[in-house]
Amino acid sequence: MSERPHLLACQSPDSLARKVAEAVERLVGETDHDPVTIALAGGSTPKRLYETLAADPFRRRIPWERIELFFGDERSVPPDHSDSNYGMTKAALLDHVPVRAHPMPAAEGDDFGYERLVRERVAAGENGIPVFDLVLLGIGTDGHTASLFPGTAALRERERLVVMNDVPKLATRRMTFTFPLLEAARRIWVLVAGADKRDVVARCLDPQVDADFPVLRARPAAGELVWWVDEAALS
Ligand code: 6PG
Repeated sequence: MSERPHLLACQSPDSLARKVAEAVERLVGETDHDPVTIALAGGSTPKRLYETLAADPFRRRIPWERIELFFGDERSVPPDHSDSNYGMTKAALLDHVPVRAHPMPAAEGDDFGYERLVRERVAAGENGIPVFDLVLLGIGTDGHTASLFPGTAALRERERLVVMNDVPKLATRRMTFTFPLLEAARRIWVLVAGADKRDVVARCLDPQVDADFPVLRARPAAGELVWWVDEAALS
């Protein structure tokens, strides 16, 4: 059973977004190498964070030219599709700040190509796996994170860093980071907001529950793991 994550409670989705934005600003300021590599989460929760980063004071204060953005997962749709994580992030953040970002070619199914890009652009650790300065993740009500859904093949992947993963419950394929790439990260921050996440959060945090949720396996081997959770998601 995985040890329970370190929690930072926030009053509301807005305060969660602001606190994480402040933490991102601090992280960039404390990082002594360039680029600062950040893998973004998809879904609806991080949208407020991206909008907060795209507005003053963060738009003005963060040195965007030092940052390189990646995506931890993507749906198999074109970038202009309403389900696209890249499309959501482009509207909320990328259109407003001068930052380099690498969309995932999920619609093309080019997981090998994205893994090559990550290996080229993100410095590797001693084990040869790229080390992201920060990986942002969310959590689904079923305990999935990125596109690592319960019962799917990608959960067992220990060699590849980026794969296409069949998700039968959604009748789709998605591109996703695998656990080896997540485990190499310096920091993983999981963003959780909303009453609909209350049950899964409670089960993740309850030492009496042997929860085998993928999100509980998303932890750095040697880095920092923080769950930023709003009050609505905390029972
Ligand atoms: C995605 C995300 C996924 C997300 C959870 C939570 O592509 O959907 O990577 O893992 O973080 O599904 O989504 P919400 O933030 O919309 O609840």
